[in-house]
Amino acid sequence: MNTKTKTPETNGHTKKVFHAGLARPKVGQDAAEIQPFGTIAKLPNGLSEKVCMESVDRMNQILADTMTLRDMYKKHHWQVAGKTFYQLHLLFDKHYDEQNELVDQIAERIQLLGGLSYAMAADVAENTNIPRPPKGREEAPVQISRLLTAHEIILQGARASARKAAQLGDDGTNDLLVSDVIRTNELQVWFLAEHLVDVPLVRAN
Ligand SMILES: [Fe+2]
Repeated sequence: MNTKTKTPETNGHTKKVFHAGLARPKVGQDAAEIQPFGTIAKLPNGLSEKVCMESVDRMNQILADTMTLRDMYKKHHWQVAGKTFYQLHLLFDKHYDEQNELVDQIAERIQLLGGLSYAMAADVAENTNIPRPPKGREEAPVQISRLLTAHEIILQGARASARKAAQLGDDGTNDLLVSDVIRTNELQVWFLAEHLVDVPLVRAN
């Protein structure tokens, strides 16, 4: 007589041993940072660590200001009101997308120089030079004025940093600042500022 006991688990077969830990996600892990903020993990890019540090510091300021301007565009995209709602709603979102692209380019420039870019909103808020707008809703000319102020802060910083990067031989940083940051911001300033020219819509003065 077969005395082997069948259990629901084995159903008469040899019980398979498996490693429960293999498929289980190892959540809640923690460890020391691999690179502290403010340091350079030197890459073989032909630039000295001192030059990389100088460019990283300057680019992080432009990054914090660009992230703030980008988010201000989305705020105004959502909150704009009035007869020009539709065109401003679309224009603000177009500029938001272009600033968002700049944010990625600036942040990755910082990383490829061996530095660490600002990433989180709290760090951006602590370090930006752009005045904080109120949480509430404002008239379109006020929104545009705030955006123009922010653009001017970025343009002044970007031009100074572009000159410094050229002087230090960091041509890649100079090129990003001149070809992308400065030119994009200058173009957006034009598109915004023309909305504040008070000319008649139908009957000439
Ligand atoms: Fe939207």
